[in-house]
Amino acid sequence: MTAVTAVTAAPAVAALTDGYGRRARDLRLSLTDRCSLRCSYCLPAEGVTWLKRSQLLRADEIVRLAGILVGQGIERVRLTGGEPLVRADVVDIVAGLAALTPRPELALTTNGVALARLAGPLAAAGLQRVNISLDTVDRGRYRAVTRRDRLGDVLAGIDAAVAAGLRPVKLNAVLLRGVNDADAATLLDFAVARGCELRFIEQMPLGAAGGWSRAALVTASEVLSLLGRDHELTPLPDRGAAPAARWLVDGGPAAVGVIAAVTEPFCADCERLRLTADGQLRTCLFAGTETDLRTPLRAGADDARLAELMVAAVRAKPAGHGIGRPEFCPPARPMSAIGG
Ligand code: 5AD
Ligand code: SF4
Repeated sequence: MTAVTAVTAAPAVAALTDGYGRRARDLRLSLTDRCSLRCSYCLPAEGVTWLKRSQLLRADEIVRLAGILVGQGIERVRLTGGEPLVRADVVDIVAGLAALTPRPELALTTNGVALARLAGPLAAAGLQRVNISLDTVDRGRYRAVTRRDRLGDVLAGIDAAVAAGLRPVKLNAVLLRGVNDADAATLLDFAVARGCELRFIEQMPLGAAGGWSRAALVTASEVLSLLGRDHELTPLPDRGAAPAARWLVDGGPAAVGVIAAVTEPFCADCERLRLTADGQLRTCLFAGTETDLRTPLRAGADDARLAELMVAAVRAKPAGHGIGRPEFCPPARPMSAIGG
C-alpha cells in the first residue's frame, strides 16, 4: 500500500468530537426496552408501554449503524437494554458486530437472568466482557428490589460468565436506603470470592416517576465508609475516562469501583454515545433531544448521510447532566428505554 492510499483510507477518527473537545469512543447499544425484571429504581411494577416490534431496529440495521459509527472512531461497543438477552437474536448481533472492521471491543450489560444458557454462545460469537447487575445476594431482598424471584438464575449466570472467560466479570450494584444498603459488605465478599469486580452505582433520577430523591441517595462516600468498616481500601490511580473510581481491597488484587454519577459527575471526560433500541442516537443519558436514525435508515439513506447525522448529533452534545440544578429535568424515557 502506498502512503497516499493509507492516508485516504484512514478512518475519520476525529469526526465524532463534540463542542467541548470530547471524542466519542464508546457506544452503548440498546437492543430492547423490555426486561425480565422490574427493578424499582428503573421500572414501575406494571403498566409500562413497550416499544412495538416494528419500532425496534432489526439485527442487520443495528450492525449497519454500529459499523458506520465504528468507521467514525467508536472503539468499544456495549450491548444494553432493558435486558439485551431477552432478544432472541442477541448472539447473531454479537457475531455481526465482531465481524466489523475495525473490530470494536465488545461488552454486554445484563441482569444475568438468562446468562447461564447464553454465556458460552455469546463468548463463542465474540463477546469479550460482561457486567451483571446484582444488588443483593439475599433472596428476599433480591425479590424486593427486582420484584422477581430470580436470584438463583443470576448466580448461575455469574458462574457461567466466569467459566466462559467473559472476564473480568463486573457486578453492578445500586443501593437503596432501607432496602439493600446493609448488603454492601456482603456483596463485596461475594464478588471477591468469585474473582468478580464489584461496582456500586449511585442511583440516578431515571426510574419510575417520583422514585428518586437526593436526600435518600446512598452516596459514593457513604458506600466507601460502609465498606471501610471491614476492609482496607487503597485508591487506584489512572481512572481516565472510566466512570468508576477504583480501590484495591485489602491490598489487592481484588478491587472495588464506585460510580458517583450524581455526587461527582464525570461528564467532562465522557466518551459515550447511546443508540436506543428504536434507532435514536443520544449523546447523554439525560439529553433532552435525540437524533432519529431509523427513519432515514429505512428511507434508504446511504452510509455517508447517516454518518453526517451522527457527526451533527455529537457536535451538539451537552456539557453535562446538571442533576441538582434547579432547571434539571429527567429524561422522558426510563433507563430501560435509553440503555444503561
Ligand atoms: N440509577 C443508577 N443505576 C441504574 N441502573 C438502572 N437504573 C439505574 C438508576 N436509576 C443500573 C442497573 C444496571 C446498569 C445498567 O444501570 O442496575 O446495572
Ligand atoms: Fe431490568 Fe436493568 Fe431495569 Fe432492572 S435495572 S428492571 S434489570 S433494565
